[in-house]
Amino acid sequence: MSNYELAPKTEPQRQEFFIARGKELLSNIEKKIGRHLTCCVTTFGCQMNARDSEKLLGILEKMGYVSTESEKADLVIYNTCTVRENADNRVFGRLGILNNYKKKNPHMRIGICGCMMQEEHIVEKINKSYPFVDIMFGTHNIHVLAELVVKNLEEDVKAIDIWDEADGIVEDLPVDRKYKFKSGINITFGCNNFCSYCIVPYVRGRERSRSPKAIIREIEKLVADGVVEVMLLGQNVNSYGKGLEDEITFPELLREVDKIEGLKRIRFMTPHPKDLSDDLIDAIAESKHVCHHIHLPLQSGSSEILRKMNRRYDKEKYLGIVKKIRERIPDCSITTDIIVGFPGETEEDFLETMDVVKRVRYDSAFTFQYSKRTGTPAAKMEEQIPQEVVTDRFDRLLKEVQTIAHAKTKELEGKVVPVLCETVNHESEGLMSGRLENNAVVHFKGDSSMIGKIFNVKLDEANGFYYMGSIVE
Ligand code: 5AD
Ligand code: SF4
Repeated sequence: MSNYELAPKTEPQRQEFFIARGKELLSNIEKKIGRHLTCCVTTFGCQMNARDSEKLLGILEKMGYVSTESEKADLVIYNTCTVRENADNRVFGRLGILNNYKKKNPHMRIGICGCMMQEEHIVEKINKSYPFVDIMFGTHNIHVLAELVVKNLEEDVKAIDIWDEADGIVEDLPVDRKYKFKSGINITFGCNNFCSYCIVPYVRGRERSRSPKAIIREIEKLVADGVVEVMLLGQNVNSYGKGLEDEITFPELLREVDKIEGLKRIRFMTPHPKDLSDDLIDAIAESKHVCHHIHLPLQSGSSEILRKMNRRYDKEKYLGIVKKIRERIPDCSITTDIIVGFPGETEEDFLETMDVVKRVRYDSAFTFQYSKRTGTPAAKMEEQIPQEVVTDRFDRLLKEVQTIAHAKTKELEGKVVPVLCETVNHESEGLMSGRLENNAVVHFKGDSSMIGKIFNVKLDEANGFYYMGSIVE
């Protein structure tokens, strides 16, 4: 009987079967070539992808691969992003380099997964122009990686499996976390909002929430394993709980997570302004461990552009939410995402965005030039903005955002704040780097035994976006 007939039909048992089968295959190859087989997972894009990559690496390590940062590995997986066009181009450029490595290593295999794989024209392009790619799968079935690797190694054929939609949520797969002390936790997958510029709903599918029990259980296990900070992840965390058997809202989930013994910091990404409730603001204000930091994507300050973007809030509503946050949580930092050059954006519309930036005074902001994504409603809109106008607006916006961010950073100079020590600072000997509650970075003297612990740090000097600090006893 073939593997496919023998394998259990249910998950995660099916993948456990293929992981075991892969382990045998790998060990046979290793015996023949007299060395370990290595793997490298490269992540493009957002925190969701970063979390998916940890799962991919968990599966590969369980199969017996030794993980490495080098893309000269025996198995390289690109976990792709397609939110903007330059993300696609970066992947295509780097695939050519991988092919050169492959020509020198007969054991090398190349895999691609993630958001780009959910677009038919991209899969066609890869099949046609990048025939050396061995494994392809999408965002809905990352759990089948072991099965695809086994198929490719055993039958020496291309292993392609891309699903149009998810088939439930597979829990309890192996995970290899990048950081020992902090972790992302998926709470929802997919997005139902269909902002008119955005490809995500098409490549990540409809919104699904994980059960609160599975989330709490996962966090409890992580805490037992040394995690002190979690980031709850969803395209729109505010709609968490919709469609679940146990009725639960995002603020209620936050309150439950806040009770978990041993957890020190809770973050979340991303809340949509259209349904950011007073209850969420209360839940943050009343919690012990939720960081006083809200990432609240603005996208545009013009009500007209927001309407065309299908964001379902206007400038006044957004500013109203910010006012409420400031009243209820005065020390809350607010960060954002902004797009310039959306089709039809006039100079007046752009000035509305600048106005919001000046009024809110963001601690930091990710600024993007509008990128046309095939298949989205905005791609078909007339009045696409000429590149030189987009560049000019982008530069003006970036300057304003940076000036304000620098001034905001300066405001905390001299203060003593709790800092989670995260990494050794490789640029200067004897220095460690950590993060404030608002996610800003501070460097201070210390050693690696401090990683994963929270210290009171005096912010001695603000240097643009980061601080130099010193530990206070
Ligand atoms: N063009 C430019 N920026 C985009 N984003 C999403 N889609 C596009 C696009 N087509 C930005 C939004 C979102 C962030 C993750 O990426 O600002 O919040
Ligand atoms: Fe894209 Fe809008 Fe969904 Fe965010 S909320 S992923 S911007 S469609």
